[in-house]
Amino acid sequence: MKSTADLAAEQAAFWNGPGGQGWLAAYQRIQRSLVDINRVVLAHADVRPGERLIDVGCGTGDTTAALAAAVGPTGRVLGLDISEPLIEAARANAARNASFVVGDAATHSFEAGAFDLVFSRFGVMFFGEPVSAFRNLHRALKSSGRLAFVCWRTPQENPWGLVPVRAAAPFLPPLPKLGPEDPGQYSFGDRARVERILMEAGFAALSLKPLDVPIFMGKDVAEVVANADRFGPLARAFAEATPEAADKARAAITEVLAPHAKPEGVLLPGACWLVSAKAS
Ligand SMILES: C[S@@+](CC[C@H](N)C(=O)[O-])C[C@H]1O[C@@H](n2cnc3c(N)ncnc32)[C@H](O)[C@@H]1O
Repeated sequence: MKSTADLAAEQAAFWNGPGGQGWLAAYQRIQRSLVDINRVVLAHADVRPGERLIDVGCGTGDTTAALAAAVGPTGRVLGLDISEPLIEAARANAARNASFVVGDAATHSFEAGAFDLVFSRFGVMFFGEPVSAFRNLHRALKSSGRLAFVCWRTPQENPWGLVPVRAAAPFLPPLPKLGPEDPGQYSFGDRARVERILMEAGFAALSLKPLDVPIFMGKDVAEVVANADRFGPLARAFAEATPEAADKARAAITEVLAPHAKPEGVLLPGACWLVSAKAS
């Protein structure tokens, strides 16, 4: 079994390497995919002027910028991410009341009892030891502080992620098998697990609300297929496949996505949890 340190090192290597590069390259489409979720999760955070916030796993800092606008000139937002290239991109557009740091949210030494809100858009599902990571975030909050984040539900509830993978997998080298609790985008899919983690970490008044939204995957099927080998769960398998196998996998994705192509783009259902909790 891998240690927490091994799992953290794996995530750091991924997000500083292919994961971060892929995220940057695909970011325009990702941003378009997240428009609806973004609106809901920012409203859910219920940010007030003058507050101090942490944006966990802030990536390129788009949510950090929106939060910085919401807290106004008397508030401050700290964007933290394990990925150097993503923080570099975030710093390039930093608002005056936002600052960025490269660090692991599980162990970063935040100022204790200083923050009103710990926020995250899809940045908290990658911890090797989530209870201790959330304890670390809990320590940073004032006793009146709160937590608000959005995460994916299970893969079965997220056809936008599962459908292309299921179609292509038979033709590609085996994909890494992740257990439901292994760090990764679906590791917070199970409601009971999220509740247990947050309660053990010291949070109270937990709320998990389902949010179901269609996810924009690309303007047409050809674009989705062209992107499948660049970023996401299939990228590595495509890189290791023979050209013939890769062509078959592309054909299989094309076939399975065809019914989902609409004039507004290729859209498949997505399912998230909107999570909130209080520090005490
Ligand atoms: C799916 S991306 C989301 C990025 C951003 N929140 C957004 O919505 O655009 C996940 C982010 O979490 C970051 N991340 C993963 N593990 C982390 C950790 N332990 N501490 C801080 N950031 C982490 C990754 O580098 C990546 O930027």
